[in-house]
Amino acid sequence: MQEINNLREKAKLELEKVSSTKELYDLKTTFVGKNGLVTGLLRGMKDIPAEQRAEFGKVVNQLKEEIASYFDEKEKVLVEKETFEKFEKERVDITLPGVKQKSGSLHPLNIVKNQILEAFCGMGFEIFEGPEIDSDYYCFQALNIPKDHPARDMQDTFYFSENVLLRPHTSPGQVRTMEKKAPPIKILSPGRVYRADDDASHSPMFHQIEGLVVDKGVSLCDLKGLLDEFVRIIFNSETKTRFRPSYFPFTEPSVEVDVTCCKCHGKGCSLCKGTGWIEILGAGVVNKKVLEMSGIDSEVYSGLAFGLGIERITMIKYGISDIRTLFENNIKFLSQFNRRK
Ligand code: PHE
Repeated sequence: MQEINNLREKAKLELEKVSSTKELYDLKTTFVGKNGLVTGLLRGMKDIPAEQRAEFGKVVNQLKEEIASYFDEKEKVLVEKETFEKFEKERVDITLPGVKQKSGSLHPLNIVKNQILEAFCGMGFEIFEGPEIDSDYYCFQALNIPKDHPARDMQDTFYFSENVLLRPHTSPGQVRTMEKKAPPIKILSPGRVYRADDDASHSPMFHQIEGLVVDKGVSLCDLKGLLDEFVRIIFNSETKTRFRPSYFPFTEPSVEVDVTCCKCHGKGCSLCKGTGWIEILGAGVVNKKVLEMSGIDSEVYSGLAFGLGIERITMIKYGISDIRTLFENNIKFLSQFNRRK
């Protein structure tokens, strides 16, 4: 009995000193754990006279419950204290100014591409995307550029083999559409194009958008109206257009379209090299030979086509003088286009 009382007192005394749940759980094991002191008492049972054993067992079990309940009480107090301390430590000062998160934004080329697509889609165009790796047939022959044609020198093309190449323009999109779809056709074909060219105004990879309209009675007038409207949407209503005669094997007649310089408004400056005009795209009435090669009756239908460079329009719109800035991923440059800033 003495030993039992001693153990009870010892447990109380030790419990007094405990100041954390960790200590408490360790101490609990020391007393009431599987190899603990109280369990140790039960092991001494064999030395107790048989008639007293039952009584002894009862008292020890009572002691075990009693000690366990002391621990439970203390545990409640400690858990509450520790939770409070944890919350205190994690307290947030809601009066402090917030930490501003940086947000990403669309790349200027995507901003302008979306604006161009939107402008034309508003006029009823659909989008058709062709492959970046294409054949000699789609890139040249079907566009009235035969193998020995001098117009092949207009583009420095990357070849994989004699017949397989990285498309140097999006014009194969015209052919692929005409082969698949019967007129009326009104499509845009955006995508990457590749040419062996690399300086401040040329990049070996750049983006074009091709436009094609095929229907009965389509003429150069429609092309002019369409592109005037496009320029008004992409630049502004003050920007004027100029159609210059030009040459492309796949259009006849062919034109190059200039807009009044957005920097000097036509007076002449370094951006427009003193001319007051900046070239933005190539276009024309689809060559009858091209329509026929793609299975369209050129006696019934006629078409117009245009091809523009997204980089070029982006550079003119935002006054960017070196095309390479568009591919360097300089955050300082790109963040200027973040409208949420
Ligand atoms: N494919 C021509 C180029 O890349 C542009 C163009 C497209 C011209 C359609 C006329 C008609 O330069």
